Amino acid sequence: MNNVCIVGAGYVGLVSGACFAELGNMVTCIDVDTARVDSLRLGQVPFYEPGLQELMSRNVAAGRLSFSSDYADGVRNADYIFLCVPTPPSSNGAADTSILRSAIQTLAPILRRPYPVIVNKSTAPVGTTSSLQKQLVASDPSLARVDVVSNPEFLREGSAVSDFMSPDRVVVGTADGSAAGKMRDLYEPVEAPVLVTDTRTAEMIKYASNAFLATKISFINEMADICEHIGADVSLVAEGMGMDRRIGKSFLRPGVGYGGSCFPKDVLALAHTAAVHGSHPRLLRAVMDVNSHQFKRVLYKLRDELGELDGTVIAVWGIAYKPDTDDVREAPAIEIMQLLEQEGARVRAYDPVAMPKAAPRLPTVAMCESAYDAALHADAVLLLTEWNEFKSIDLERVAAGMNTPILIDGRNVFDPVRAREAGLTYAGVGRGAVEPRRLRVTTTRRVAV
Ligand code: UDX
Repeated sequence: MNNVCIVGAGYVGLVSGACFAELGNMVTCIDVDTARVDSLRLGQVPFYEPGLQELMSRNVAAGRLSFSSDYADGVRNADYIFLCVPTPPSSNGAADTSILRSAIQTLAPILRRPYPVIVNKSTAPVGTTSSLQKQLVASDPSLARVDVVSNPEFLREGSAVSDFMSPDRVVVGTADGSAAGKMRDLYEPVEAPVLVTDTRTAEMIKYASNAFLATKISFINEMADICEHIGADVSLVAEGMGMDRRIGKSFLRPGVGYGGSCFPKDVLALAHTAAVHGSHPRLLRAVMDVNSHQFKRVLYKLRDELGELDGTVIAVWGIAYKPDTDDVREAPAIEIMQLLEQEGARVRAYDPVAMPKAAPRLPTVAMCESAYDAALHADAVLLLTEWNEFKSIDLERVAAGMNTPILIDGRNVFDPVRAREAGLTYAGVGRGAVEPRRLRVTTTRRVAV
């Protein structure tokens, strides 16, 4: 059993803390926000993440997980101190590491021998881990013996607990063999390959992974645009591409663009780092350019159907940047709704869990009880997040209640034929001008059905 201190009880910190506790460690999560700590002590999780609430309650009850706003409570017996604090973008696109630095400043005077390993999990520019180590030594030269290692996270919101417990890999950045050994021991129960590199390489693996996934998304979104112009179906194009094991199926779903707290920030930060160091990140810039244009294409389709949007009523299904989260950071839906309102449309929105987080940013949008309620008397429905509950919606009922039955499906959730049979004018993403013939794959030949 190890003692683990987590600094920062946000998304990454709480998931990591609860999972380390589940693996049998004693975990203390520290946060400077006392109100957050108070509500965590009452068992309230500040965001929606499937499975996390149960995991936290179980481990709190077992005495393995606790919360405090006093660093000393977590640091006293710690074998490992994980830094899981925000690194928001600053005005020039670089990730702001000031919260990390102030965490180190608070830790330095209270570290005692035998020293814990300090683990940076926050996504921070290449070179940050080594500069945190230098900061420690500058504050107290006797802290030169403390190991500061990089251990990037690859958690997806909505499946973060299982991503933590069954990772594809664990990346550890350190030049110190004993720190690497301690990290291997801690992660041994998750039975994943552990890749040990220098700190800069570990930091770069995180950025490169996110940038590559974002590139796949922008690539398929660009293919979707081409498909629309030439009359091909991008979903089948992606399926056909994904059957090639060198390409793979994942992250080839076209949509309204990537959002969330990671991809937009990390691609921008990597482009900034590249430029500062004299590299010209053409591809990263193109990825961002495609993405920032992608959500506007929904509006073009709406204008194609309705003409002027002034005076129209538009229903929006889904606000979260992706399903299974209430996170609306960099959510395309927020920007789309703001543009709709600027054009004079009235917006009625529904999301299964994200409305409380979205409402303060959309004070004039009507938040509705259900997807049906949002669509009632609307001139068009925009589907922007592919929540499961939308997949089983009764499209006949929706069409019957609308003023003009138009469905713009920003995530290709619905079968275009079904939607049209239900009486809706349908437009998806990259589904071509002509109705594609779906091909069923058999082991020996392809059969049109
Ligand atoms: C991402 C990374 O996957 C994770 O490893 C990292 O630690 C944090 O950033 P997350 O933001 O939770 O995780 O979401 P993810 O599931 O990766 O989706 C990101 C965005 O891409 C969402 O807006 C999603 O809708 C979009 N997306 C994803 C697509 O548009 N198409 C796809 O095929 C996949």
